[in-house]
Amino acid sequence: MNILAIETSCDDTSASVVQDGKNILSNVISSQIAIHSKYGGVVPELASRHHLENINFVIAAALKKAHLRMTDIDALAVTQGPGLVGSLLAGIMAAKTLALLYRLPLIPVNHIEGHIYANFIEHQLKPPFLALVISGGHTELIIQRELAHYQILGRTRDDAVGEAYDKVAKLLGLGYPGGPVIDRLAKQGDPNFVKFPRPYLPGTYDFSFSGLKTSVVNYVSKHPASSVQHLADVVASFQQAVIEVLVNKTIATAQKMKMKKVVLAGGVAANSALRSLFAAKIKNTGIRLYYPSLILCTDNAAMVGSAAYYRSKNKKLKYHQEMLTFKAEPNLQI
Ligand SMILES: Nc1ncnc2c1ncn2[C@@H]1O[C@H](COP(=O)(O)OP(=O)(O)OP(=O)(O)O)[C@@H](O)[C@H]1O
Ligand SMILES: [Mg+2]
Repeated sequence: MNILAIETSCDDTSASVVQDGKNILSNVISSQIAIHSKYGGVVPELASRHHLENINFVIAAALKKAHLRMTDIDALAVTQGPGLVGSLLAGIMAAKTLALLYRLPLIPVNHIEGHIYANFIEHQLKPPFLALVISGGHTELIIQRELAHYQILGRTRDDAVGEAYDKVAKLLGLGYPGGPVIDRLAKQGDPNFVKFPRPYLPGTYDFSFSGLKTSVVNYVSKHPASSVQHLADVVASFQQAVIEVLVNKTIATAQKMKMKKVVLAGGVAANSALRSLFAAKIKNTGIRLYYPSLILCTDNAAMVGSAAYYRSKNKKLKYHQEMLTFKAEPNLQI
C-alpha cells in the first residue's frame, strides 16, 4: 500500500511516499531554518506563507523520487495537529485537494503519534512500550499498550525540552535551532563544570525545565562566557542536567510500569549525549531501547505515512466526501 504523506505542522515542508508503513520510497524535507534563524525562532506567519510556496514542489519531488505518479498512490495522509494553525492548514488544504481530485482516501494523523511511529519504520517494534516524546513542543511519557492506544503518564509543566535547548542557545547567542548546536558544542565541554539543578519532580511522571533554564540565565549573568571553552562547559553542564533527568526518570518509570521496551521520539531524540547515556544506563536492566535514525527524529512526512498505515490497517479504506471535513487542530491531544 503506497501512502503519500504530507507534514507541515511547524517550519518543515515535507512529503513522503511510504509503502506498507515501513518502506520509505521518498522523504523530501524543505527546511525553513534559514528563514527563521535570524528571528531566533519560528515566525508563524512566515512559516505558513513558505509552506504555501513550497508544498506543490515538495509533493512533486516526493513522487518523482519514488518513481511514482498520483495514480500509483493508494491513500493520502496529512498532519492534523498539534502545530501552528497556519502551517497545518497549508498541508491539509494540499492533501484535501489531492484527495478530491484523485478520489483517494485521506487519513488525518496526530503529529506526536507520527514521531512515535518513526520507530516502526526501522525497527520490528510492537507494543507494549514506554515512549519518551521529546520535541520542540512536547515532553511526555506515554505508554502505548496496543496500536493506537495511548496513556499519558506525565508531561512538562512548563517548557518542552527542545524549547529549553532553543532558549538556552538563544540566550548564549548560538543561533536557532539550539539543540543541534548545543549537542555539537557540548562535546568539547565539561558536563560537571557547573552543577545545575536536576528537576526530578519526585512522586510524579511530570517534567519541568524552565527552572533549569533560569539557572543557566542566572549563571551566565554572573559569569559571562569568557571563551569558547567556557561556553562549551556551560552548555555541556546544562545538557548533562537535562539528560540525567530524562534518562533516570524514564528508566525508573519503565521499571515501575513493567515495560520491557523504551522508545524515544521527537527532535531531541537526535541528541548524541542523550543516546549514549540511555544506552549506558539501560544496559543491565533487561529493557530494550529504540530510537529513530537522525533524519526521522525531527519533523518529516515519512513518520506521518507510517502512522497512517498502522492506523488504517485492516480497515477498508475508500474515498468519501466526509473524509474532507476534518479541521486543523493546533492543540490536538494524542
Ligand atoms: N541533536 C539535538 N539535540 C537536542 N535537541 C535537538 C537536537 N536536534 C534537534 N533538537 C531539537 O528538537 C526540536 C525540534 O524537534 P521537532 O521537530 O520534533 O519539534 P517540533 O515539531 O517543533 O515540536 P512538536 O513535535 O512538539 O510539535 C528543536 O527544539 C531542536 O532544538
Ligand atoms: Mg515535531
